[in-house]
Amino acid sequence: MKPFKVVCTGTQLPAALQMLEQECELKIWEHAYPIPRDLVLEWVADADGLFATGSVRVDDELLDKAPKLKVVSQASVGYDNVDIAACTSRGIPFSNTPGVLEETTADLTFGLLLSAVRRIHEGWEQVRSGNWKNNFDVPFGMDLFGKTLGIIGMGKIGVAVAKRAQAFGMQVIYSNRSRRGDEEQLQVTYASLDDLLRQADIVVVLVPLHEQTRGLMGTEQFRKMKPSAYFINVARGAVVDTDALYHALTKREIAYAALDVTDPEPLPADHPLLGLRNVIITPHVGSATYETRSRMARLAARNLMAGLHQKALPTCVNQ
Ligand code: DGY
Repeated sequence: MKPFKVVCTGTQLPAALQMLEQECELKIWEHAYPIPRDLVLEWVADADGLFATGSVRVDDELLDKAPKLKVVSQASVGYDNVDIAACTSRGIPFSNTPGVLEETTADLTFGLLLSAVRRIHEGWEQVRSGNWKNNFDVPFGMDLFGKTLGIIGMGKIGVAVAKRAQAFGMQVIYSNRSRRGDEEQLQVTYASLDDLLRQADIVVVLVPLHEQTRGLMGTEQFRKMKPSAYFINVARGAVVDTDALYHALTKREIAYAALDVTDPEPLPADHPLLGLRNVIITPHVGSATYETRSRMARLAARNLMAGLHQKALPTCVNQ
């Protein structure tokens, strides 16, 4: 008999499971679609630990059904699905996985950015479909050198993106709730959100999702951007008003969007955004490399085990 019962609301990498197996009886939701709410509420009834995934709301309702719960751990940096106050009020520590995925997510951000501005994916489509006839009838893009990148939400991922942009000869401006104070060292310039939207040739959103950032990019914000500007979202889909983005793209208020996250997620196959040519969308793969996902899984497992043993969690959000 193992001492702890742990519910995993989605599949976890072997790197994490091996760390749990010895001491934990695991109940794992292994399907590709999200675990039904009723089932997760049933499963947590006798759980000591919850290995959560982003599609499961961890709130009063769930925590009320889990009287034995000692810890909630999630292998992600964002945790907009978790009601932190609800965990804290019950003395339940919650941990995410900061510090292990910033460079990888910055790589993906820059990959999307390059693919969009040089229309790499469109070129590949043209070649693959046999429609490449000559060197003029090909997708033309935009130079990065000398352009301005605007980063909304300059945390660790933002800094890693800024370094990549500077290596490409770009200027970097950023907006944040508050000024960082290390602009000189990072060689970046602080701007208000409005100024950033007006000045940037490429706007990248990297803010966490919470009540103040939900719908941050709407009709008004897209109208402030240059008609030639590219918009990139690698944060959370709901930071953007999807209808407003669709209209900005169809009315050519902005040139192009490159998205790793959408609202809803996944987008239904008949969603109007998918019919546009000036869009590229990846399936929320910011941290999806073998190395990084393994680091995230191991850190999340360490947090979970610490919580089960009622020790301090390595990366606790609410302790
Ligand atoms: C994160 O770590 O928050 C990524 O977006 C994966 O959910």
